[in-house]
Formats: sequence, structure tokens, C-alpha cells
Amino acid sequence: MIRKILKWAGILLAGIIVAAICVYSYIAFSMKARMNKTYVFDQETIEIPADSATIARGRHLVAIKGCLDCHGEHLEGKVMNDDGPVGRLVARNLTRGKGGLPADYDVANWLTALRHGVDQDGKPLLFMPSHETTLLSQQDVTALIAYCRQVQPTDHVLPENDLGPVALVMSYLGKMPLLSVEKIDHNKPMIARADSTEGIGQGKYLAVSCTGCHRDNFKGGEPLAPGFPPVPDITAAGHVGKWTKAQFITTLTTGKTPEGHMLKNEDMPWKMTAQYTRTELSSLYDYLQSIQ
Ligand code: HEC
Ligand code: HEC
Repeated sequence: MIRKILKWAGILLAGIIVAAICVYSYIAFSMKARMNKTYVFDQETIEIPADSATIARGRHLVAIKGCLDCHGEHLEGKVMNDDGPVGRLVARNLTRGKGGLPADYDVANWLTALRHGVDQDGKPLLFMPSHETTLLSQQDVTALIAYCRQVQPTDHVLPENDLGPVALVMSYLGKMPLLSVEKIDHNKPMIARADSTEGIGQGKYLAVSCTGCHRDNFKGGEPLAPGFPPVPDITAAGHVGKWTKAQFITTLTTGKTPEGHMLKNEDMPWKMTAQYTRTELSSLYDYLQSIQ
């Protein structure tokens, strides 16, 4: 009797394992096909000035848009993650040094990366948040390119991306922003310039950078990955809604909430939000408070 049960249990277990392998193979196969697809977009180009105000704006943008967090302090590239289950995720070296962007990487290539989420060969950029950079104004995109093109070349040769099973499955389920190219409305023209006066309009433009984690409606939700804290609601309806503007600004510049909770930079990138100007933080507050 026991023998029979064990035998059937063994067969059942083997069946489950085979089914799991089939499902995983299907997911890996379909994700690889999506990652290897070639896209063709019209090549655009824009005038890139090199005056000091434009460069200064670009320097501010690489800090507040997280470019430095992923691509490294000097844009020299960075291995963002390297472990078995998630795999190796690499943000490219954006300088002209060894291992950096090719010598013929021109303004049109920069625009294709930032607006469409593909590289020089039309292949999708993995984990590059182009669905956010595509919403930047032409004025800001210009400043970013101007700044990045004049940074000091750094020699830094990085390994290739090598995604593990967790990254593939989570991306398949839409829980990881792997393929921004698939999320972009590619026909949407660039806005010329964004509202730069303090208030809700500027806040709305800046808040695009919070959507990756706090969700499109800023109401937060489940943790971004196992082991991370849940993402809080930062609208007027959440508990941040009860904070004063001063408390909001102090939290985003020091990482310490009015309740005395210290935010970890790996969970909530407050070292990035600390780089925003007071005006920008004030506008973010006004915008978030306008959402119920
Ligand atoms: C969440 C991390 C992250 C952030 C934030 C980020 N990048 Fe990236 N970026 C990446 C990764 C990863 C790649 C490499 C993608 C690949 O190899 O498929 C990449 C690729 C690029 C490329 C493409 C290079 C090429 O070979 O075509 C450019 C250009 C770029 N990033 C610019 C920027 C700029 C400018 C910013 C800030 C506005 C920025 N990135 C913010 C992760 C990031
Ligand atoms: C990389 C993901 C990520 C990004 C990007 C991000 N946040 Fe957060 N944020 C979090 C997480 C996770 C927490 C919760 C941390 C904790 O519980 O310790 C958090 C917490 C906060 C809090 C404290 C909330 C509370 O209830 O105590 C505020 C305020 C906040 N974020 C505002 C922002 C704003 C504004 C932006 C955009 C400029 C932003 N965040 C961008 C992930 C992110």
C-alpha cells in the first residue's frame, strides 16, 4: 500500500517538475525573442548647444533622474546586479572611454535611446527607463545629451547582460520594467519645454520619476521585489497627505520621515530626491497633494 502511494506520489512530483520546466522554457523562449527583436524608428536629430547654462541643466538632470545611480557617478557604467536567480544587469558606460559608447554614437543615437528605448542596432535596451525619458521635454533632452557628451571619458569595460530565471519570469509577468520599448507611445512628439514655474504643472512633469515605484497613480502597492518594503501611497489620500510641505521636503532631502523612520536609499532613493531644488520639491508636494 505505502509502496503504491509512494510510487504515485513520485510520478505526480515528476509530472509537476516536467510541467514547470515546460512553462519556464516557454517563458524564457518568448522573453528572449522579445529581447532580440529589431526595431526601426525614423532617425531624428536636434541642435545640441554647449553653453554653460545648458550643461548645468544637464548636470542637474543626470542627478535627479537617477542616471548617476544606475550608470555610475561619472557615467562610467555599472553592474547593477549580479547574482544567480536575478542574473547580471549592466548599465552601459556612457562616456567616450574604453568600453564606452562607440565613436560614431551620434545625437540621433542618443535620441533613439532616450525616446524609443533601443540601441544603435535597433535592439531593445534592457532595464533602461526610456518610458520615462521619452516624456522629457526637448529642452531637457537637449541638456542631458549636451552634458553626457562632454563628460570626461572613463575607461571601463563591462560584462554583458545575463538575465537569470527570476528576471525573465518577473518581466514576463510584467513585474519588472525590462523592455521599455514595448511601453512607449512611439508616435508621441516631444513637448518643446516643460512648465518651470513652481506649482502643480512642474510637479506633474517631475513626478514621472516616481511612477516606476509608486505606480502611475502614486498610490503605491506591493513590494517591487521580494524582500523589499511595500510601496506607500504618496497622494493626499495616504499618510504623506497629512505632512506639511516642510516635512515633505525634509523627508526627501534627509531620508528621515516626520515619524522618525529612516528610509533606506536602496528602497527609496532619497539621495536622488535630495538633489532636487526646493522649488522642484515644493512643486512635487503641490502636485501629489492635488491627487485624492
Ligand atoms: C534603472 C537604471 C537606469 C537609469 C535610471 C538610467 N539608465 Fe540608461 N541604461 C540602463 C541600462 C541597464 C542600460 C543598458 C541596456 C542594455 O544594455 O540593454 C542603459 C542604457 C542607456 C543608453 C544606451 C546606450 C547604448 O548603447 O545605446 C543610454 C544613452 C542611457 N542609458 C542614458 C541614460 C540617461 C541619460 C539616463 C538618465 C536620464 C539613464 N540612462 C538612466 C539603466 C538605467
Ligand atoms: C526605486 C523606487 C522608488 C522611487 C523611484 C521613488 N520611491 Fe518613494 N519610496 C519607495 C519605497 C519602497 C518607499 C517605502 C520605504 C520604506 O518603507 O522604508 C518609499 C517611500 C517614500 C516616501 C515616504 C512615505 C511614507 O509613508 O513614509 C515618500 C514621501 C516618497 N517615497 C516620495 C517619493 C517621490 C516624491 C518620488 C519621486 C521623486 C519617489 N518617492 C521615488 C520607492 C521609490
